[in-house]
Amino acid sequence: MSLSESGIKAPLWLLAELTYRCPLQCPYCSNPLDFARQQQELTTEQWLTVFRQAREMGSVQLGFSGGEPLVRKDLAELIAGARQLGFYTNLITSGIGLTRQKLDTFADAGLDHIQISFQASDETLNAALAGSEKAFHQKLEMAKAIKAHGYPMVLNFVLHRHNIDQIDRIIELCIQLEADDVELATCQFYGWAQLNREGLLPTREQIASAEAVVKRYREKMQAAGNLTNLLFVTPDYYEERPKGCMGGWGAIFMNVTPDGLALPCHSARQLPIEFPSVLDNSLQHIWYQSFGFNRYRGYDWMPEPCRSCDEKEKDFGGCRCQAFMLTGNADNADPVCSKSEHHGKILQARREADCSEIKVSQLRFRNQKNSKVIFTSQG
Ligand code: FES
Repeated sequence: MSLSESGIKAPLWLLAELTYRCPLQCPYCSNPLDFARQQQELTTEQWLTVFRQAREMGSVQLGFSGGEPLVRKDLAELIAGARQLGFYTNLITSGIGLTRQKLDTFADAGLDHIQISFQASDETLNAALAGSEKAFHQKLEMAKAIKAHGYPMVLNFVLHRHNIDQIDRIIELCIQLEADDVELATCQFYGWAQLNREGLLPTREQIASAEAVVKRYREKMQAAGNLTNLLFVTPDYYEERPKGCMGGWGAIFMNVTPDGLALPCHSARQLPIEFPSVLDNSLQHIWYQSFGFNRYRGYDWMPEPCRSCDEKEKDFGGCRCQAFMLTGNADNADPVCSKSEHHGKILQARREADCSEIKVSQLRFRNQKNSKVIFTSQG
């Protein structure tokens, strides 16, 4: 059977998680809890081979992510290689380690787009969340430098119960920095965010009030002719139906980890599935033939209530990783769905958010020490 006959479309978007190394320690990082266990990183040549194979399959967009991709000394070389292959390239960074000189080098290499993340709209909270006193100033400087360079710039703020009430100041900061797009993305609960969920999940009231502020700003900015796009992403913990995670399993997205595992999403490493490595298989084989990528494709794998649900082609039964984290079985419907017999777990999380008193200083930060403690305790 040829690939086109198989009915599986090529992955449009490749995310290259170049490294798990990162100078910051955000307590909502989506990297695996035991990231410190993974010391190996693909070489420049190995990454370029991955990019070439992805492009040959028809991938068009390549994100450089991490950890912090700037810690890779070969980043400019990787960008240039990807660009020469014809990818639209996107750097997803904290801005720590970025310099004006690097921006020049990346521009020469052909980088198309930069997303820079902030933890808060003020220095104190930003420092408490990122674990760095200098981070806020550096991010401000680099956001200005990115704009001065003429890059399209996305500013990304991960929102949670400790910063969502400053959303008006966050938006003001984005306007001041002349962001082209603003992602106000409420924490999704994977990796370290899941570990800290009780201390991060906003209350329903916080979400509603943030939503009203965003709406007000959209109207105000539109009236003033400001074209900045404000994207506000609410947490699915307050929904009654799950998200169609990744646009469907193995449908459009492929993630490659620093050590070369190919995953259908950034979080699948935790699932009890053996995912293939790009060191042992071609990307083409992985995407079309591997067990891991075919495991949740289509609808035949679905048990009830998803199997007979008339919304299954919209949400694909929700998120497999969330189903696994909350129910212990990735085959189950995502408990976000009110039809799931495990939906009570979501209701319980909402109740915990209502009475949580966990302070920022009490969150478990994503760093080598904590990761090692976690994987030692996992055995
Ligand atoms: Fe893995 Fe949703 S994050 S399927």
